[in-house]
Amino acid sequence: MGVIKMSLFKKDKKLSTDSIDNGVGLITVTQPTSTIAEQFRTVRTNIQFSSIDKEMKVIMATSSGPSAGKSTVITNLAVTYANQGLKVLLIDADMRRPTAHQTFGLSNETGLTNCLTEKDIDIAKAVEETPIENLYVMPAGPTPPNPSELLNTKRMDAILMAVAEQMDMVIIDTPPLISVTDAQIVATKVDGTILVVREGVAKKGAVLKAKELLDTVHARIIGTILNDVSGSDESGYYGGYYGYYK
Ligand SMILES: Nc1ncnc2c1ncn2[C@@H]1O[C@H](COP(=O)(O)OP(=O)(O)O)[C@@H](O)[C@H]1O
Ligand SMILES: [Mg+2]
Repeated sequence: MGVIKMSLFKKDKKLSTDSIDNGVGLITVTQPTSTIAEQFRTVRTNIQFSSIDKEMKVIMATSSGPSAGKSTVITNLAVTYANQGLKVLLIDADMRRPTAHQTFGLSNETGLTNCLTEKDIDIAKAVEETPIENLYVMPAGPTPPNPSELLNTKRMDAILMAVAEQMDMVIIDTPPLISVTDAQIVATKVDGTILVVREGVAKKGAVLKAKELLDTVHARIIGTILNDVSGSDESGYYGGYYGYYK
């Protein structure tokens, strides 16, 4: 789908723990007719057309470093798919800095961690409904000491296979690529990966390194979303634009 530029909203670019404490902003819910919501629909369409030979049913987002807007982008994309009428499961596989439960006001008591560590657990126990029709969330669950080891298991494959059977789309939030291997591991288990790059935050070298790390595991990169692009429409809080490059 090439590169999609979007400027979600204007705010300080400093790294913050805001989304961990309060969840991410859901502009696709609060402002469904905004330019940004429209951009997410464009991303959805582009993903649909990015692959004719392989179904894009299980997809993930990652970035080079933290606070790129991965969770913001992937969550709004999940809402966009759900609004289309698809049954969507958002899995929070960023067990180090989870946000999905906060975003939707859910409990984080039972989540992906439990599915990976408790042998006889019913996966449905870790799936919660959200206030948004068709959108379900599997929160990260309690932070384990060894997320990458847990993700790098046949058990993870089995979980993804089981949920993919029940859902129309499975959308996964992961940690950044540089510093931990979690995202690289998950990338080997999904149909496609979206790389989120935050303008003014991500350094070019880091983005190239991120791409290299994905290539190393033969990840299928569906496209790059350039988040928080400056120089866009300043007229409104949510002013934004996207460009579309091959
Ligand atoms: N386009 C944007 N404009 C302004 N703030 C943003 C933008 N995208 C994300 N943020 C903010 O940056 C912080 C990190 O975003 P988040 O989605 O949690 O990133 P990540 O999951 O990559 O760590 C959050 O406080 C979020 O609200
Ligand atoms: Mg995040």
